[in-house]
Amino acid sequence: MQILSTDEIAALFGTTKDRLDKESLAHIAACDWGYEPLKQKERDSIIISLLERIENRKLTIVANEDKSRWDTGWGENLKAFQASNGDLDALIPKYIRPGEIIRLNGELVRSRDPNFELNWFKIFSRWFFLTHLSSYDTIFEFGCGSGINVAKLAEMFPEKVIYGLDWAQPSVDIVESLRTLRGMRTQGASFDFFHPDEKFEFPPNSAVITVGAMEQTGTSWQAFLDFLIRKGPARVHHIEPIFEWYDPTELVDYTALKAHEARNFWRGYPTRLLELEQAGEVAIHNSKRAHFGSLVLEGYSQLIWSPI
Ligand SMILES: C[S@@+](CC[C@H](N)C(=O)[O-])C[C@H]1O[C@@H](n2cnc3c(N)ncnc32)[C@H](O)[C@@H]1O
Repeated sequence: MQILSTDEIAALFGTTKDRLDKESLAHIAACDWGYEPLKQKERDSIIISLLERIENRKLTIVANEDKSRWDTGWGENLKAFQASNGDLDALIPKYIRPGEIIRLNGELVRSRDPNFELNWFKIFSRWFFLTHLSSYDTIFEFGCGSGINVAKLAEMFPEKVIYGLDWAQPSVDIVESLRTLRGMRTQGASFDFFHPDEKFEFPPNSAVITVGAMEQTGTSWQAFLDFLIRKGPARVHHIEPIFEWYDPTELVDYTALKAHEARNFWRGYPTRLLELEQAGEVAIHNSKRAHFGSLVLEGYSQLIWSPI
């Protein structure tokens, strides 16, 4: 059994151990980071079955303009959240699956703790928010889903207003319930990446964040990118799977590329941002591949930029 060290966890975040805050270090120390790379035979069979699922389109696919899946899924979270009178555990999205094989530094591994990915994500997201979002007055999460990040942001930064936007009404209702049931400074609003609301304006010193949401736009992210450039928030942060950053000559990466294509997840955005940077329209501040993720792909790559 190998143990993912604090240095390695920091490197996955894109920092070093000495720059982690005390609370992150304590949270890391409290979790079990034991894992084992798969043996060749099991690795082969898992990769083959993954490729078969991809070939047979057995993965959930982005269906442009169809939000029924999200209405149903977040509707269940909303019901559970309201029935529990505001228990934040009811917001844990079902797509972080306990006990699954995960990808780590380009390999497939089995973790000792079934909640390895969820533990990692909880510590990572808190660290990311603290490091990158502390200095903004207002934070907007676009595609906020179950509201899990909105709730965390509202707990971490009680002085800020945290907006949660999504095209699925139950998501908006969850963010509103965070305010009415838990007294958080949250505000829900309806928003569609494909048809951004032109009347929308960012207050000064606003930060935007997306977490596994732009992935859902396939090749139709242009309307939202144009919107961000026109409306000019102070900074935009994406935590998303990034197609362009996998290595197609590595087998495990190749499966992620194929899964990404089969699911019609977003592609082309980082390349467009680089073009816009060359044209002097945006500044890119951070591009960090995750090197960590679920069996299917690396969902936690970081891309941070601002309109000029
Ligand atoms: C994988 S979930 C991520 C949710 C949340 N950010 C999280 O980290 O748990 C993707 C979210 O994007 C939203 N979404 C997908 N397409 C959208 C669109 N065109 N406009 C607005 N939201 C969209 C979905 O409703 C869903 O809430």
